[in-house]
Amino acid sequence: MRKSVVVLPGDGIGPEVATQAVRVLSAVAEKLGVDLELATALIGGAAIDAHNSPLPESTLALCEKSDAVFLGAVGGPQWAKVAVSIRPEQGLLDLRRALGLFANLRPAMTYPELASASPVRADKLADVDIIIVRELTGGIYFGRRGRTASAAFDTCEYTVGEIERVCRVAGRLAQQRRKKIASVDKANVLDTSRLWRETATRIFADEFPDIEVEHIYVDAAAMHLLSRPSAFDVMVMDNMFGDILSDEASMLAGSLGLLPSASINENRLGLYEPIHGSAPDIAGLDKANPIGAILSIAMMLRYSLDLPAGADAIEQAVHASLKAGYRTADLGSGPGLAVVGTAAFGDAVLTELAG
Ligand code: IPM
Ligand code: MG
Repeated sequence: MRKSVVVLPGDGIGPEVATQAVRVLSAVAEKLGVDLELATALIGGAAIDAHNSPLPESTLALCEKSDAVFLGAVGGPQWAKVAVSIRPEQGLLDLRRALGLFANLRPAMTYPELASASPVRADKLADVDIIIVRELTGGIYFGRRGRTASAAFDTCEYTVGEIERVCRVAGRLAQQRRKKIASVDKANVLDTSRLWRETATRIFADEFPDIEVEHIYVDAAAMHLLSRPSAFDVMVMDNMFGDILSDEASMLAGSLGLLPSASINENRLGLYEPIHGSAPDIAGLDKANPIGAILSIAMMLRYSLDLPAGADAIEQAVHASLKAGYRTADLGSGPGLAVVGTAAFGDAVLTELAG
């Protein structure tokens, strides 16, 4: 079996976590007898420096003909002052849009070993296993916008079709899990949210009658994520709400550095990236947590490459490394724990995979 994967290391800590992700991917491919074809390309600030574009055409062309794409992170202070249209982040937004990656899956799970790393009380964290499904190619991120010297506007627009397709992704996931969906909106204020609620209500009633559905306003959802996190299973929401609530949910796990994500389209092609950013303050210091990146490879194996056994093996190896006491600096220290760098944590995961 042959699989082609494009790696976009990006900026800041992106290249360091990408290196560990690729080591793990290569090891699993070898173990499973998969002929892995890897290509690397530029995105974000690195691409602006080299090609004056955050998403060069050559990068997009390579991604379009691959089986899956891994991305490290984009952005950094050195590109913050350039014109808005050529910010590094635009490369990622354009890539999501160009590949039609309308559904972004962001799991937030907890590891008992890391309970003390979370600001949330340990008794609230038992059994937390959430997956946020964020709409990724619509809403205020892509609406009409503009500015003058004294004013600016961004618009949020959704079509019924855009809401239906992301609700179906959430419905299918819930059927494989605990059969519960929380649909998040702001239907007491926004027209787009009223359309969202109507559409979600219809799709879930007609096509997923076995799923228990609740509709929650986004402000209440932010609170409930802390007061009753274990009550949630699948959560589905628009682009902006998903951006915000997924960062909040990551602190249930204990660190933004832990969480992976998958962005998928109608076909099997997907973009896999840790949810953390480029963390320029620790870039190049071998301090970044590679777990979000490594778990993103597990999601890639599961959703794009059809290798679920490899995904399970990676998830188990990460958990085993934590159980063995390995921690990166963001996860805290303590007696019996070994605080290690990015590469050494990668070594620990590879050792567990080989064992
Ligand atoms: C994310 C990030 C991006 C987003 C940025 C980098 C454009 O915050 O993936 O959550 O807002 O979608
Ligand atoms: Mg974000």
